[in-house]
Amino acid sequence: KKLEMFVDELPDMPKIQGFDVVNGVPKTKSLKIGMYQKLWTFHRDLPSTPVFAYGISREAASVPGPTIEALHGIDTHVTWQNHLPSKHILPWDPTIPTAIPRSRLGIPTVVHLHGAIDEPESDGNAKSWFTAGFRERGPMWTKTTYHYRNMQHPGNLWYHDHAMGLTRVNLLAGLIGAYVIRHPGVEDPLGLPSGDEFDRPLVVFDRGFNADGSIYMNRTGNNPSIHPQWRPEYFGDAIVVNGKAWPRVTVRRRKYRFRIRNASNARFFKFFFTNGLRFIHVASDSAYLEEPISTNETLLGPSEIADVVVDFSKSMSDTAILANGAPYPYPGGDPVNEANGNVMKFVIKNEPEVDMWRVPKTLIKYPRADLSGALQTRYIVMYEYTSVTGEPTHLYINGKSYDDPVTETPKVGTSEVWNVINLTQDNHPLHIHLGLFKVLDQTELVNEDRFKACMTKINDAIKCNITNYTRGKNLEVPAHEKGWKNVYKITPGYVTKILVRFSYIHSNATYPFDATKDPGYVYHCHILDHEDNVMIRPLRPIQ
Ligand code: C2O
Ligand code: CU
Repeated sequence: KKLEMFVDELPDMPKIQGFDVVNGVPKTKSLKIGMYQKLWTFHRDLPSTPVFAYGISREAASVPGPTIEALHGIDTHVTWQNHLPSKHILPWDPTIPTAIPRSRLGIPTVVHLHGAIDEPESDGNAKSWFTAGFRERGPMWTKTTYHYRNMQHPGNLWYHDHAMGLTRVNLLAGLIGAYVIRHPGVEDPLGLPSGDEFDRPLVVFDRGFNADGSIYMNRTGNNPSIHPQWRPEYFGDAIVVNGKAWPRVTVRRRKYRFRIRNASNARFFKFFFTNGLRFIHVASDSAYLEEPISTNETLLGPSEIADVVVDFSKSMSDTAILANGAPYPYPGGDPVNEANGNVMKFVIKNEPEVDMWRVPKTLIKYPRADLSGALQTRYIVMYEYTSVTGEPTHLYINGKSYDDPVTETPKVGTSEVWNVINLTQDNHPLHIHLGLFKVLDQTELVNEDRFKACMTKINDAIKCNITNYTRGKNLEVPAHEKGWKNVYKITPGYVTKILVRFSYIHSNATYPFDATKDPGYVYHCHILDHEDNVMIRPLRPIQ
């Protein structure tokens, strides 16, 4: 049965403060957040869905989980507790490098705070997983309570599961949530829309549902003789925002700030408003832009974040649909259909309003990205391996799996140039833990096939002499994507050059922690089905 769109109200996720206030002074706080199996109602007319959810209790647990609001400079400690049963609600695949322990006494989980610049022991390495009651622990597990220093610039983060080989199913099951670092001294003077009513997170993902309400996932892989369940990309037809499929919300004729996170496994969104309303970008993944940039559409790969102001006083109509136009897989896949081409509906009140919020001419300036100071130039090549039938079997970076020896060992506090080369047909959103980067340029790879043939033999872009091939068209980096990012869409057939900084971006201060410790960090494709099999590599800073 077809679900009716725009019938459920847009929910707000529960909020948790990541700090205490004692006599008016903010103080460090320790939180306990659990992972629970429970039932969740994604739509008025859909039976309840078994999910995995984060929350301070089973009753309070939600999909997405609670939004954690942290304060710049105030430590937040979180003990992430696994209360999940021993059987997963979704089919996982034992043939990809996976964390499910032999005893199968529990479901491995580990939490990564995406966008955070923190110690490696609290970064949620894929092999730092643990099961219920910490009964079983992965080979890189070090501690039960994670320490988030919130020392970085203010911005939008999110937390999600990161267990080796299970990330795609653990997130599909619901293990995601928003996290914000606020810095009132820096942000309040900007005058942007704020407060619960006018500053709202929108966590967007796609899901399929079975008639009984359970999450739909194809149980047979595309190459079942090699991987019985794994498929290269998960797509669902329902678009869920803050835990409801195609919700609606009533807004006043004034400015709102929406922090939009694409929490899909593999779906790209090309958001636009059906009545022509515009997005005024003020920040992206985890950092502010230097000045606001207005666009009429917003393309977000999985895990990218758009932090935008929408001014409903400019609306010529009393409703606006937030729609999606991105083919799936992106960019060469199927065009959107009626279901996945609609996201949510805004009902705009008629009365004119006095709006005290504003969008200032300039936002936040960070120190310059200094190319001349880059210590290293690296080549990072993404490719896909197929079976004899031409179906993808797995994806690697530089021909290496996660367990191959570490090759990326940046010096803490420095920057590097990475040339990221995409030899596949699809766009891959690259995410680097610890580092933030600026996209410098995107150059077409000429004679891609010859380069590919060389790469599959020796896995070394320098030996294959990449400079012979990168002479094609230049693809402009959109103005609103020129700021500091932690994920970027790597265009197929192009070399994307980025400057990665392995230090804070708002100051030259070094980390108040030792970034070189075990278990290190990772970088990977944020299409979760790729990350699990095995488009992820270790990142090991050195002092
Ligand atoms: Cu959002 Cu390594 O992840
Ligand atoms: Cu990928």
